[in-house]
Amino acid sequence: MDVYKITGEKRLQGTISVSGAKNSAVALIPASILADSPVTLEGLPEISDVLTLQALLEDIGGKVELDGKTMVIDPSEIISMPLPNGNVKKLRASYYLMGAMLGRFKHAAIGLPGGCHLGPRPIDQHIKGFEALGATVTNEHGAIYLRAKELRGAKIYLDVVSVGATINIMLAAVLAKGRTTIENAAKEPEIIDVATLLSNMGAKIKGAGTNIIRIDGVEKLHGTRHTIIPDRIEAGTFMIMAAAAGDGVTIDNVIPFHVEALTSKLREMGVTIVEKDEQIFIPKAENLSAVDVKTLVYPGFPTDLQQPFSVLLTQAVGSSMITDTVYSARFKHIDEIGRMNANARVEGRSAILAGPTQLEAATVRASDLRAGAALVLAGLLADGETEIRDIHHIERGYSSLIEKLQGIGAEISKVNISESASIRE
Ligand code: EPZ
Repeated sequence: MDVYKITGEKRLQGTISVSGAKNSAVALIPASILADSPVTLEGLPEISDVLTLQALLEDIGGKVELDGKTMVIDPSEIISMPLPNGNVKKLRASYYLMGAMLGRFKHAAIGLPGGCHLGPRPIDQHIKGFEALGATVTNEHGAIYLRAKELRGAKIYLDVVSVGATINIMLAAVLAKGRTTIENAAKEPEIIDVATLLSNMGAKIKGAGTNIIRIDGVEKLHGTRHTIIPDRIEAGTFMIMAAAAGDGVTIDNVIPFHVEALTSKLREMGVTIVEKDEQIFIPKAENLSAVDVKTLVYPGFPTDLQQPFSVLLTQAVGSSMITDTVYSARFKHIDEIGRMNANARVEGRSAILAGPTQLEAATVRASDLRAGAALVLAGLLADGETEIRDIHHIERGYSSLIEKLQGIGAEISKVNISESASIRE
């Protein structure tokens, strides 16, 4: 199996580039099947989730050419057929094919989604939206079947602010008859990115990025070319690493506005953040102060950054508390960094951390994507050589992570070890 090996205590210095947004890419690719002609997506991240979605589109007759960061999707020969569970299980975002196929074909059959285990991740709000548009939704043998004679615009109030439900309902509504209003919609930048693609395909969408989105259905959508936004979570991960282990790091290809909640927290800790047009520079940070963090939906502090941020807090002077109001079980990394000498414990939906602590190398496991990123940072800080296992979680969402970190001085590599090697206590 492949593992990461990291020799810690190497200071990071130089410029690290951010790739296209994973949480945009996994929605833009399914959205393209709503067009009647080719869609070109540029600036995609080179991650396994993109490859999985390419395979899913090809499973249903799509012609997909992927050349590095550019994907050309010809959806003209896509047929409506049940999607096999195999690839569907690999990522939660495969559920966007529900909205896209319902929107295009008025029916779909998709296996229940997979993805990170962060506690219960229902899709009741997605289904509420599809039913409001006129679909019948049933759960048969572990697959979701959606059928509609026609789709008619509706007013939908989301009981929970959900990124996935907001996007999925948009996908189902753009070809429906009449106006759909999504109230209490999520406001993430990725939602704006999907709405921009759909609008350039001919959809009529207003209010993406606010909590009320209005969609007036159209007859058909055509192909277009779209450049994806930078990944604000990857950018935030690098900012946290720069604050914890950097001697002057520039993060390139970032929209500073998208990471304002993190920037504000880092400044509260005493980190200097220099914002330029599409770059953020973070000089060496010293005497970090402990802070408390509560994750919230955008534009609040992102839940996707609380795990790497908790490792930064082990280096701050004093006691900190991180509360995740979005996911109830996103603290599996706390046990792992505890094995690296971190002073950290979980209490309900919060983690309590005390510092500063010299972390010690260990063999640890990534339980999910962002927990994996947290363990990479812990390895960069630890005394000795850390081994990280189950790195497939990390490679779902961070493209060329090894090369990018090596480029700013990290001593990190991916090596293959025998399956039998046991975790050293
Ligand atoms: C998206 O997941 C992201 N994934 C997640 O990033 C991110 O953590 C999350 O939004 C919150 O920002 C993608 O975009 C592919 P939600 P999503 O629907 O859409 C509850 C990463 O690390 N909920 O906004 O699945 C849900 O249980 C990943 O890149 C319902 O109750 O998240 C959660 O508590 C991890 N019913 C909250 O809402 C529903 O029907 C937010 O979920 C849907 C969601």
